[in-house]
Amino acid sequence: MPQVVRGVVARAKGEPVEVVPIVIPDPGPGEVVVAVQACGVCHTDLHYREGGINDEFPFLLGHEAAGIVETVGEGVDHVAPGDFVVLNWRAVCGQCRACKRGKPQYCFDTFNATQKMTLEDGTELSPALGIGAFAEKTLVHQGQCTRVDATADPAVVGLLGCGVMAGLGAAVNTGGVSRGDTVAVIGCGGVGDAAIAGARLVGARTIIAVDRDPKKLDWARDLGATHTVNAAETDAVEAIQDLTGGFGADVVIDAVGRPETWKQAFYARDLAGTVVLVGVPTPDMTLDMPLIDFFSRGGSLKSSWYGDCLPERDFPQLVDLYQQGRLPLEKFVTERIALDEVEAAFETMHRGEVLRSVVVL
Ligand SMILES: NC(=O)c1ccc[n+]([C@@H]2O[C@H](COP(=O)([O-])OP(=O)(O)OC[C@H]3O[C@@H](n4cnc5c(N)ncnc54)[C@H](O)[C@@H]3O)[C@@H](O)[C@H]2O)c1
Ligand SMILES: [Zn+2]
Ligand SMILES: [Zn+2]
Repeated sequence: MPQVVRGVVARAKGEPVEVVPIVIPDPGPGEVVVAVQACGVCHTDLHYREGGINDEFPFLLGHEAAGIVETVGEGVDHVAPGDFVVLNWRAVCGQCRACKRGKPQYCFDTFNATQKMTLEDGTELSPALGIGAFAEKTLVHQGQCTRVDATADPAVVGLLGCGVMAGLGAAVNTGGVSRGDTVAVIGCGGVGDAAIAGARLVGARTIIAVDRDPKKLDWARDLGATHTVNAAETDAVEAIQDLTGGFGADVVIDAVGRPETWKQAFYARDLAGTVVLVGVPTPDMTLDMPLIDFFSRGGSLKSSWYGDCLPERDFPQLVDLYQQGRLPLEKFVTERIALDEVEAAFETMHRGEVLRSVVVL
């Protein structure tokens, strides 16, 4: 029997989100119903509400979640009822050209549930990033469920489902940061701070946090930055060079995603160093730079989607490191809120007051 539960829906561009009854179908072949325990509020949810992703309203928001598998459809063997899982938006297909070339982190055909969740009048919902977890229950593909240590706090480990994984993976997977490296991170929100935590985890020697907000710099230091630069007061490029023997950092991560921050990342890196763009630019943004600089400085210019993660490889591993006290994921949870406080959490996020607000069910 389809179930009716409460979910946070964005009905139209720019309109405040509402908690409304939504209908969850019984899971079909390969599908799973998950009872959501916690879901973080990510910037991307706000982008959806503002029509910045696409126009497929109404959206069921939320995509950084953990919960318990409730029921499974035909042919599901990857998870079973009662399993504690973190949801992901990279259920790799194994068949596309990226998967076949052994690079499933670029999978071009990831799985989502086939059936649609709906409003009570039958209107189909578009789940954010194919998840839709600001809801008591959600319907996903079995591959979107990654089992992790069931004793972990869902509000904390659910954050691996998007922003924290994106930042940490930008440093460790995409940037290839390793022991002894010098790293700079521009923009120290949840994503940038996760890059900092990742750089510390793998033993980077110098980790420079750059932001315009002193509060963010305090948090960045708490998460592992060895040095901080207030970009509102100091030239970020010069400061990073000064802190790295005059050379620039081995890896610079742009966790803002604007032309000016990307340029800073480009010039603040050592010769043959790496730039990783993880912040998301808007379509109107362009770059105008001397081509010779790209040539003469060498190195590697990369972008990072979801931290180039493989959920089945990375989530259980990172949850274990968190449980062992080696990765302070709990510091990303600034506040715990109820389902009907998501709209307020967008305001708090906009004012830069949190790393993450997490809805707890
Ligand atoms: N690539 C991915 O897979 C992925 C996944 C999730 C989020 N993101 C993106 O990552 C970016 C960061 O997300 P977040 O949740 O950390 O956002 P956030 O708003 O919490 O953090 C952004 C930080 O950048 C700082 N900042 C802004 N302009 C700056 C400047 N000119 N110089 C220095 N600092 C500046 C802000 O003070 C803030 O601390 C967003 O663009 C988001 O959409 C990307
Ligand atoms: Zn694939
Ligand atoms: Zn997200």
